[in-house]
Order: sequence, then C-alpha cells, then structure tokens
Amino acid sequence: MKPREIKRGVYWVGAIDWDRRLFDSLIPLPDGTSYNSYLIKGSQKMALIDAVDPTMKEVLLEHLDELKIKTIDYIIANHAEQDHSGAIAQLVEKYPRSKVVCTPKCKELLIALLMIPEARFKTVADKENISLGDRTLEFIYTPWVHWPETMVSYLREDRILFSYDFFGSHLATTDLYVSDEGQVYEAAKRYFAEIMMPFRATIEKNLEKLKDYKIDIIAPSHGPMYDKPEFIIKAYNSWVFDKPKNIVVLPYISMHGSTRLMVEHLVEALAEKGVTVKQFDLTVTDIGKLAMALVDAATIVIGTPTILVGPHPNVVYATFLANALKPKVKFVSIIGSYGWGGKAVEQLAAMIPNLKVEVIEPVLCKGLPHPADYEALEKLATTIAQKHKAEGFA
Ligand code: FEO
Repeated sequence: MKPREIKRGVYWVGAIDWDRRLFDSLIPLPDGTSYNSYLIKGSQKMALIDAVDPTMKEVLLEHLDELKIKTIDYIIANHAEQDHSGAIAQLVEKYPRSKVVCTPKCKELLIALLMIPEARFKTVADKENISLGDRTLEFIYTPWVHWPETMVSYLREDRILFSYDFFGSHLATTDLYVSDEGQVYEAAKRYFAEIMMPFRATIEKNLEKLKDYKIDIIAPSHGPMYDKPEFIIKAYNSWVFDKPKNIVVLPYISMHGSTRLMVEHLVEALAEKGVTVKQFDLTVTDIGKLAMALVDAATIVIGTPTILVGPHPNVVYATFLANALKPKVKFVSIIGSYGWGGKAVEQLAAMIPNLKVEVIEPVLCKGLPHPADYEALEKLATTIAQKHKAEGFA
C-alpha cells in the first residue's frame, strides 16, 4: 500500500503484515497485523512517529522515498518493542541528522535491543513539547502500557494522539480508519486481553491522564485508526472498570472421556441456572479466544484429568496463562477425574497467586463420574450461580 495522507502534511507510512500468524512466538494472529508509522511534515522540522517491524523495514524506507523525504529531524520512539523500533537502526543511518526522541527508559532499552549509539538520542520529560514549526508534538508518559518506557505523542494542532500499542488491534486491513466496528471491537478486545489486561491498574491511571486532551483521531501502531475515538475509549473503560459478568470460563482437557462427561454436566447445570459458560477444549483452542473470554468472566472452572500425579500439561499451560494475564475473576474451581490419586488440585491452586479469588470446593472423581459426582457438580453450579448473584454480576 502507498503512503496515505491523514491530514495535510501528516501521512501513514506503515506496513501491513497480512500473513503473520504468530506474535512473540506465542500469540495467534488470525487476522494478521500492521505496524503503523506516521510522518509529520512541520514547516521547519520533519518527524516520524514509530518505525516498523524489522522484517518490513524496506516497506517503510520505500514509503519515505516515495514521499521524497531527504531529511528527518526526529524519530519518535513511543515504545521500544522491536515491532515498532526494529527499523530505527536503519533509519538513523539513512537520516544522519535525525535524533531518536523517547523517554530515558526507552533510550536505555533501545541501546540494549538495537545498539543505537547514545549520541543519537534526545530524551524528553513527561508532557514536554517539541516544535515542528507550525505544529507541536507533546509527549505524555504512559508507563507500563505495556512496557515500562511507553509514552504517547499528541499532535496538538491536529488533535491526533499517536498511541503506539495503546488502543491497538492486530488486524491487517486496507481501511485507514475503523469501518467495521464489530470486527475491530473483536480484534481490539483480543489485543487488550493478550497484551494489556495484566496492566489494568496502570491503564486506569493513564486513561485518566488522557481525559483532558481533545482528541479527534487516535492513531495506534497496530490496526486501523479511530476517527471516532469514543468507540475505543468506551471499550477500554468497560474492559478496565466494569465488574465481571455472570460468566464462567471452563478450559479443560479430557484424555478418556471422564472429565468431558463432568464438563458437559456442569455446563448444562450452569446454563439451567442462567449462568453463561464459555467452554474451551485445550487440545484445539485458540488461546487468544480463551484470553478474550477471561476479560469479562467472574469464575474460572478448570477441568483436568490426572497425569503423572498432576494436572495435564495443557491445563498447566492455560492456568499459567490465566495467572499471568490477571483477569478480574473472583472465583475459581477445579473439576476432573483421576485413576489412582494425585495432586492436581494442590498443584493448580499453587499456580494462581496473581488471582485474588475465592476457591470453590473442587469436584474430583475416580474414573467415570458416579451419581454422587454428578450431584457434587450440581451443587458446584448452584454455588457459582448464588455467588454471582450475591456479587451483582449481571
Ligand atoms: Fe506492538 Fe508492544 O509492541
């Protein structure tokens, strides 16, 4: 795609990665992604906001050539992660007068990650301005969204907020702005769940900090831009501030069918009591879908057979992930089957120190579930429904 003018003298010059299917060798990207860079031609100075993933640096360099850019004064690094900083190493060589503008923490990281010479940096303080002539960039620190060095850049005269990963979505699209709100909501929620959810407390502070800025466009570093910023700000407010919903997330594995019978029975019992259940067979689940479900869930019930005296390794992985993502769940329980004993419950319970949850009594059965086990599952469903109601989770 060619460079695209957003406003007079402000261009999108990024790269669209249609075919990428995995990020950080971990996160599935069902819809690809983009690495957005933006060029601002001021009357006196030229600024580039963020770079692109190193695999697509040639795309960015070609865009700059197409626009006949001979000099860049400021390369703004809002975030040091390589999908936005990777091409900076080439940019500072190609544009020898350019300075990399970032927070002191970002400078430290860029020197470590990309070996950019120290002399090429200009660090900025929180809320410091840089004049481009007829335009002004203000830098607002937003630490821990989702790395320690992160900041947003606000183009004051045009009211554009360049927000790096903040408000972003992994979505490859030819749309410069959001056109399909449903699709972008889904992609942005997935992004929030996978990347941002562990930092809810700092996101809360940073949403407050940005409240006083008049914003016409949010230009993130992944996915389309928002020309109606209230759409994504409202979504973030809901994901960060709202109470959990009347939802149980149930990731499970079944090796010989016993745990599956228990899962099916519990799901049925919960549904009868008006609780929404999201069931995930971990042999086939997209972990992004599981992460998204955790954004709103009030309860996690983990279903596992016993293998080598502990939980199934896929269940260990999902539990580790849930603990790392720190969703706002309030209750956890465990169900499953064993053959001759084991410590699945103790081991799983020890894996969730980040979750401030009440553990509801697990239901384990020997071999196939018997009538008493089904009764215990009914009781578990009743307890969960009652607790959700008592907490006002609608
Ligand atoms: Fe898109 Fe945190 O990098």
